[in-house]
Amino acid sequence: MPARTPAATAPAPLAADLTEALKRLKLSTMRQLAPDVLHTAKIQRWTPEEVLRTLIEAEVAARDESNQRNRLRGAGFPVTKTLEEFKVTASSVPQATFDYLAGLEWIGKAENLCLVGPAGTGKSHLLAALGHAAVAAGHKVRYLTAAELVEQLYRGLADSSVGRVIDTLLRHDLIIVDEVGFAPLDDTGTQLLFRFVAAAYERRALGIASHWPFEQWGRFLPEHVTATSLLDRLLHHATVVVTEGESSRMREARTRTTRSRS
Ligand SMILES: Nc1ncnc2c1ncn2[C@@H]1O[C@H](COP(=O)(O)OP(=O)(O)OP(=O)(O)O)[C@@H](O)[C@H]1O
Ligand SMILES: [Mg+2]
Repeated sequence: MPARTPAATAPAPLAADLTEALKRLKLSTMRQLAPDVLHTAKIQRWTPEEVLRTLIEAEVAARDESNQRNRLRGAGFPVTKTLEEFKVTASSVPQATFDYLAGLEWIGKAENLCLVGPAGTGKSHLLAALGHAAVAAGHKVRYLTAAELVEQLYRGLADSSVGRVIDTLLRHDLIIVDEVGFAPLDDTGTQLLFRFVAAAYERRALGIASHWPFEQWGRFLPEHVTATSLLDRLLHHATVVVTEGESSRMREARTRTTRSRS
């Protein structure tokens, strides 16, 4: 963009018909910038192409930013966590796995990510941070806990709209289901969760976190055959990460206690 120097006279307002047309076309950034840009362009003798480029680039940048803000709001992340804040070396996530996940290619390939490990080992952090990065890269992301997901599906069952609930979720490129297995499901809940995983299979990327190793999923998915078929689909194209170690929350709490004692 050519350099703009302060002009001696104030910019003239844009002609009323142009203002109206830009309003109708919802080109609000162009509308706001046009008087100033046209004024500067005249003084600095910009080429017509430079004028057009400046206005269009500003509109595109504003549109991208607003889309990203909307996608971020729509994702429903409970906290803001970033990949930069995630200490890979302090976690049990191999660097190569972290790099692969941070590359986000797996989302476009509709692969899954399954994080399994005890409390406070960074599962939610990693899921939310990858979700944020995916939003910034232009993906549509939705974050839910398993309890929220099952509740939505149950509500769908009540008014025969389970299919619609699932279709709406599958409009996202990445659906994150956190805290799988905190609450046990009944047979219907298991069936509903299976329906969701089966619908997403090879179509959308799922990011899942659970305390329970897969061989213990029977604890909260009582219907054995359905649980097996669900895991079969979930794990077919998936990166599985077992998070280990002491809870970061406990470690931080202990550090705080030690500090306050000393
Ligand atoms: N490797 C890490 N680098 C930076 N912060 C971390 C890391 N691991 C965990 N944390 C921080 O520790 C806290 C707990 O992590 P998180 O909520 O991701 O745990 P979790 O595995 O989801 O636990 P739970 O199973 O109880 O939900 C968060 O504040 C998180 O940001
Ligand atoms: Mg968590």
